[in-house]
Amino acid sequence: MTGGAVLATFFSVLIGAFAVGQAGPAMEAISSGQGAAYQIFETIDSDSEIDPLSKEGDVPSSLEGTIKLSKVSFRYPSRPDAQIFEQLNLKVPAGKTVAVVGPSGNGKSTIMHLVQRIYDIDAGEILIDGRNIKSLNLKWLRQQIGLVSQEPVLFSGTIAENIAWGKEQASQEEIEAAAKAANAYDFISNFPDGFNTQVGEKGAQLSGGQKQRIAIARAIVKNPKILLLDEATSALDTESEKIVQEALDSVKTGRTTIVIAHRLSTIKDADLIAVVNGGVIAEKGTHDELMAKDGIYAGMVRVQQAGVVEKKKKHHKKSSKHKKKHSKHSKEQTSTTTKISDKTKEENEKAKNVPFSRWVIEIQVLIATDF
Ligand SMILES: Nc1ncnc2c1ncn2[C@@H]1O[C@H](COP(=O)(O)OP(=O)(O)OP(=O)(O)O)[C@@H](O)[C@H]1O
Ligand SMILES: [Mg+2]
Repeated sequence: MTGGAVLATFFSVLIGAFAVGQAGPAMEAISSGQGAAYQIFETIDSDSEIDPLSKEGDVPSSLEGTIKLSKVSFRYPSRPDAQIFEQLNLKVPAGKTVAVVGPSGNGKSTIMHLVQRIYDIDAGEILIDGRNIKSLNLKWLRQQIGLVSQEPVLFSGTIAENIAWGKEQASQEEIEAAAKAANAYDFISNFPDGFNTQVGEKGAQLSGGQKQRIAIARAIVKNPKILLLDEATSALDTESEKIVQEALDSVKTGRTTIVIAHRLSTIKDADLIAVVNGGVIAEKGTHDELMAKDGIYAGMVRVQQAGVVEKKKKHHKKSSKHKKKHSKHSKEQTSTTTKISDKTKEENEKAKNVPFSRWVIEIQVLIATDF
């Protein structure tokens, strides 16, 4: 063996060992990644009891859009101890808007889940045009439903792609028509790339109101007969809420709509307002009927109105307090100025009376301390 070969072997072993040492932390990341991937693949491979891709079930040739929940009882499979609904009845006539209100955690969003058949109910029936949704083809059923939820989920890609997620092979005309109906066409056209603008990861490059309007466009691109709006404007400020609300009001026409709204003023004009409480519809009627009844709904309206008045009062108080503070401050300032000027006058008077010898002593002290 030559000396060169020994040297090369020596360095190869040395560098190799060093590289293996460096790979240590990466190996740790790989093994924790494997652990996480196992859970993901397990979820992907698990069979869903309600298969959205199933070819089974009826596919009606037309749809009116009447929704009826009849004696519905339901508990979430993961929380069997909590009875969400007990013999709940609710009817949404075709083309009408029904608002579902009620205290938080009483099952408003659960109604939306059940209509889309994300969960199967324990007892009772959910009927669409008189047909039990269990007998319908699930893919067809979900194609008839447009959903706009509180937090719009956009995917990385262009605006056009995000709207097109609502309908397989949506054409550019359909996408643009949906954007127009959702009050989104103008702001999209103002972007330099228009419909080809990248929305960024989770729509990070758009404002809340813009994201929500794209989500509305996505919900209506398939021209659904049924529209489910679950607190669609609650994450927005008052200004964008107004714009999005206008968009929602225009897309609601001609569709059966179930709307959940935290701000009761936005659902005042609904054809029917249903109050969910204690697992049943505790009250139902129009805004005026429920106000006259003076029950849960009227109480909720009063609380919200009081909240608005309180807010306004606070704002008013704050501004008048600020004004008072300001005037007090200026008064204090004038009084301090008077005090200061009085004091200066006094000191000047005193200074005039200080004898010359004292001046000399003070100057001497100053010089002494300076050096
Ligand atoms: N996936 C789930 N698994 C188990 N329990 C759930 C699930 N989703 C909701 N719940 C429970 O069901 C009940 C009703 O929830 P739901 O989301 O329908 O309420 P909500 O009326 O929409 O409330 P909010 O006004 O706060 O949105 C709650 O007690 C909640 O904890
Ligand atoms: Mg909810």
